[in-house]
Amino acid sequence: MTLEPNVKQIKENVWKVEENGSKYSLKRYHSMSTAVKVKHVHEELEKIDFPHMVPVLPSEDRLLLQQPWLENARPVSYKRRRDRTDSLAALQALHQTNVYFDWKASPYLHTYPLLTKWMDRLSRFLDHRIFFQEMLGVRRVQEIIFYAKEALPIVRQYNREPGQQTLLHGDVVHHNILRDQNGVIRLIDFDLACLSSPDTELALWSHRVLPHVSYNVHFLFGEQRAIDDMKPGAKAMLLYPNELLREWLHLLTLPDQNQQKLARQLIPFTEAALSAWPKLWYDVEQSLK
Ligand SMILES: Nc1ncnc2c1ncn2[C@@H]1O[C@H](COP(=O)(O)OP(=O)(O)O)[C@@H](O)[C@H]1O
Ligand SMILES: [Mg+2]
Repeated sequence: MTLEPNVKQIKENVWKVEENGSKYSLKRYHSMSTAVKVKHVHEELEKIDFPHMVPVLPSEDRLLLQQPWLENARPVSYKRRRDRTDSLAALQALHQTNVYFDWKASPYLHTYPLLTKWMDRLSRFLDHRIFFQEMLGVRRVQEIIFYAKEALPIVRQYNREPGQQTLLHGDVVHHNILRDQNGVIRLIDFDLACLSSPDTELALWSHRVLPHVSYNVHFLFGEQRAIDDMKPGAKAMLLYPNELLREWLHLLTLPDQNQQKLARQLIPFTEAALSAWPKLWYDVEQSLK
C-alpha cells in the first residue's frame, strides 16, 4: 500500500516531504547552474564521507534537490560558545577538503566576488539613502556609509594577492548550519558555494558572529584561534559593516507592513553596532600592525 505523501512547505522553494515512512527535504532551483553546482559539491563530498553535509538522494528532475530530512536538528546559535567553535571547525574541515579535490579545476565553482559584491551593496544602500534616512535618521545613515567607504580601500589594499583557494560554503548564516540529533554539525544550502581563500569564509563567519559577542573582536580572537590567525587581508574585512548593509537592503525587498516590523528590530541592532564600531575599528587596526 502506498500512502499519499505528506508535504509541508518550509519556504517558497523548500518542502518537507514524508512518504512511505521516510522523510526528506525537497528544494526547487530556478537556476540550472546552481542546481548542478550544488549536486556536484555534494557528490564530491560524499566520496570522502565528509561528515558535515547531508547526502543527496537521486532525483529525476535536475532542478530538484532531495536530501534526507534531519529530524530534530536545530540551527546553531552564534550566541553559544560551543556552537561557534563547532561551526567554525566544520567550515575549516570543508576548506581542508582541497587535500582530496582540486576544487579550482571544477567548472561549476567560481571565485567569490567579494569586493564587487561589497561595492554593489554600498552603492545600492546609497541609491536608497533618503528612504533609509527616514527610517533610521540622517546621522546613523551617514555613519554606515562612512564606515563602508573607509573600509573598502583598506580591504582592497590588503587583498591584492589572490592567495590559496578552496571550496567555501558561501552563506554561513546560522540557519544553514544545523546540529543534528547526534550533535554533529551539518552544513546545508550550498547555493552560494564558491572558491576563495579559507580566510574569506572565516571573515564572513566573523561578520555573522560579532553581533552576538558585543562586537568584541578581542574576545573573538581570544576564543577562536583560527580567527586570530587570519591574515591581515581577512582581518581588514571585519571593518566593513556588512551585516548592517545586508539587513537594511533586505528590508527593501519586503512588503510595506513587514518593512515596518523589521525596521523596529533593525534600529536597535544598528544602534548597538554603530556604538561598538569605533572600538572595533581601533582593535582591528591594531591587529593589522
Ligand atoms: N535536510 C534537511 N533537514 C532538516 N531541515 C532542513 C533540511 N533542508 C532544509 N531544511 C530547513 O529548511 C530551511 C531552508 O532550506 P535552505 O536550503 O537553507 O533554503 P534557502 O536557500 O531558502 O535558505 C533550512 O534553514 C532548514 O531549517
Ligand atoms: Mg538557507
